[in-house]
Amino acid sequence: METAYKALQISPHVYWVGAIDWNLRSFHGYRTARGSTYNAYLITGAQNVLIDTVKAPFFGEMRSRIESVLGENPKIDVVISNHAEMDHSGALPQTCEWLHPRRVLATKQGITALKAQLHWEQTVDLAGSEPLRLDGITLRFVPTPMLHWPDSMLSYFEEDRVLFSNDAFGMHLASVERFDDELPPELLKEEAGRYYANILWLQSGLIQKLLATWPTLNIEPALVAPDHGPIWRSQFSQILQYYSQWSDKKPQNKVVIAYDSMWGSTEKLAHAIADGARNAPSHPTVQLMSLAKNDRSDVIAALLDAGALVVGSPTLNNQMYPTVAAFLTYLQGLKPKGLVGAAFGSYGWSGEGAKQVEAQLNAIRIPSCAPLLNLRYVPTASGLCEAAQWGATIAEALNAGL
Ligand code: FEO
Repeated sequence: METAYKALQISPHVYWVGAIDWNLRSFHGYRTARGSTYNAYLITGAQNVLIDTVKAPFFGEMRSRIESVLGENPKIDVVISNHAEMDHSGALPQTCEWLHPRRVLATKQGITALKAQLHWEQTVDLAGSEPLRLDGITLRFVPTPMLHWPDSMLSYFEEDRVLFSNDAFGMHLASVERFDDELPPELLKEEAGRYYANILWLQSGLIQKLLATWPTLNIEPALVAPDHGPIWRSQFSQILQYYSQWSDKKPQNKVVIAYDSMWGSTEKLAHAIADGARNAPSHPTVQLMSLAKNDRSDVIAALLDAGALVVGSPTLNNQMYPTVAAFLTYLQGLKPKGLVGAAFGSYGWSGEGAKQVEAQLNAIRIPSCAPLLNLRYVPTASGLCEAAQWGATIAEALNAGL
């Protein structure tokens, strides 16, 4: 049957039947400059199995790819939902109406989440601890609660040694290439890191535990097939190493300065702080990021290999600046580790903004490495020298803790 979209065979019995979202630019507040993919996989045999679906508007693309393998009246016996978030389950109701699978399987939490989100009557069975055996297809399920939703699980197809890892080891990257070795390694590291920092950083403790138990899972995948981005066939050991490093993040010799400015004074301070930090004897990498010009998720990504976060805010109506507050709220949810912090700002009347930043950094448990720098009105030449010296103090404190 001729179809608009084609599936891609990735192993003897497995096809990629997902969709490419070239125009995605925000994933619940995380900037996705390179779009994304929603990866669904079809296991073929005497019985056919679909692993995950796609975001609802992409149902037609997935359907076309399935039809390119199985024809226009495909028989799918079982659908596995590894993860209930809507970018993977949104098309599940349409898929079930079309295919009438004999069974849909998910974890206990997955069953709850699917019912609550989709409001459908479909029976969803528990993906249990016993393998699912279907005439030559053996699927094992490994629940990974809170990685990154309560329902998340991995599915392992033993015969072809394919691990379907849902969001884990994924990245938001739209491309025609489906395999890791078809894309530049530095691009994979950048986008996998951005994904880790914005989606998984919060769960680093659980990731450490999963990595510690990895050898006992009796999984030796030839392919690791996530629900976003390329399939790992050559560099999985590299991404495992990155996950190990990111989840046990240690401070590194890099200072990120995130700030916003009202009339340019806080910005002047930020520039002087950057110069002072860079010219300190420890010579750290310095990244200056205006929160008016940079998306907060890009600042989070920059923190993954940083050691110090310096946050600057003016005071507006007795409060920190709204962009700074939004950034800190987002940061607080991710509970980053391996950072020291400091707050600064410029103010005209009462100067609460930078004080609130300092208090929030404390609340996030980013320990302070320098006293508050809070100067009035437009900084003078000596004020800028003070800011540069303050930047050097931060660099030295960071270096002392490395
Ligand atoms: Fe790709 Fe957690 O959804």
